[in-house]
Amino acid sequence: MSLTAESHRVPLSDGNSIPLLGLGTYADPQKGRKRVVLPTNKSQQEKSIVDSCFSLFYSPTSLLLMVLGGNHSGTSESGLSRPSRRLYKTPKGTCLESVKIAIDTGYRHIDGAFVYYNEHEVGQAIREKIAEGKIKREDIFYCGKLWNTCHPPELVRPTLEKTLKILQLDYVDLYIIELPMAFKPGDAIYPRDENGKFIYHETNLCATWEAMEACKDAGLAKSIGVSNFNRRQLEMILNKPGLKHKPVSNQVECHPYFTQPKLLEFCRQHDIVIVGYSPLGTSRDETWVNVSSPPLLEDPVLNAIGKKYSKTAAQVALRFSIQRGVVVIPKSFNPQRIRENFQIFDFSLTEKEMKEIEALNKNVRYVELLMWRDHPEYPFNDEY
Ligand code: A2P
Repeated sequence: MSLTAESHRVPLSDGNSIPLLGLGTYADPQKGRKRVVLPTNKSQQEKSIVDSCFSLFYSPTSLLLMVLGGNHSGTSESGLSRPSRRLYKTPKGTCLESVKIAIDTGYRHIDGAFVYYNEHEVGQAIREKIAEGKIKREDIFYCGKLWNTCHPPELVRPTLEKTLKILQLDYVDLYIIELPMAFKPGDAIYPRDENGKFIYHETNLCATWEAMEACKDAGLAKSIGVSNFNRRQLEMILNKPGLKHKPVSNQVECHPYFTQPKLLEFCRQHDIVIVGYSPLGTSRDETWVNVSSPPLLEDPVLNAIGKKYSKTAAQVALRFSIQRGVVVIPKSFNPQRIRENFQIFDFSLTEKEMKEIEALNKNVRYVELLMWRDHPEYPFNDEY
């Protein structure tokens, strides 16, 4: 397959297609106040989370900030509350500028979510670029996400409609279930009881999926998929009696240190595209990243191969993923790095180099989501 800056879409099982490279738009939380440093030891990590009264958490592709006791600021319509922006590192407007730079650079795929709290900036950037005549709506592929508190089927469409209102767009190209773990619906995005324990909700992934199918049928989402689903959870959907639309994609952590060979093979067999989050190994913010796994971009093999092609380790890591058919959504709000991450279509890795990089797999996640390990549908206990 020849991949170019102008043409690097891969087909989805529903007849649509997805660009192999997209811009991630999650925002890092502010450090300071009662910052919670997650110890690398798992039991300590859990204790630290439970003990904390102000915690920063990571959601699959984003940083999620939680204020205990439902002490959020912001809107609460549709049962989704919004923490204050000042709790994030990213200044207002940064995401807007980044998405505009990305579109000018050639990116046509943007990955976002309600819980990144900057979806309005993503929408504005897309609309401004359309108004400028730089792109048409159909050139852009936008992926949005259904949050855990919105799994009950009757909430799915109103939640997507709210996202469309925030974006000021008529449809999303892809709408995915962000995590297979339902939380109690309501105002709090991270509902907790008086003891600080997360309040989960009965999870019925098949029922949620049927509501997702209805969103596709209504034209609100061109394609529908999932995120952080393990094999068992994917099979639950694939084997659902009366399944109307298969998930076209599964967004999961994927990079040279976590190559997901088994899940990738399973998904290939079922025409499910893997979208790899944290393709550069995350921001290594110890408040939410398992930093016991070494920094990906310092890897000697990636750097040596990069030297050969006058490329950075980041570019090699991204090229590796797209060459194996994994969609990548590197997050950057830095103009130079946004451009750097797009320069991966003017070189290719040899079979030997691909194998060398595959051999770097450590099978260790940067993003473990241990605080939700007691959820009945916590996805990462299974082998894959
Ligand atoms: P920044 O936004 O300042 O560029 P991932 O997508 O794996 O989660 O990685 C995102 C992190 O990597 C962010 O902290 C981002 O910071 C940084 N990053 C993005 N692109 C590059 C690059 N080309 N080289 C080094 N770091 C990068």
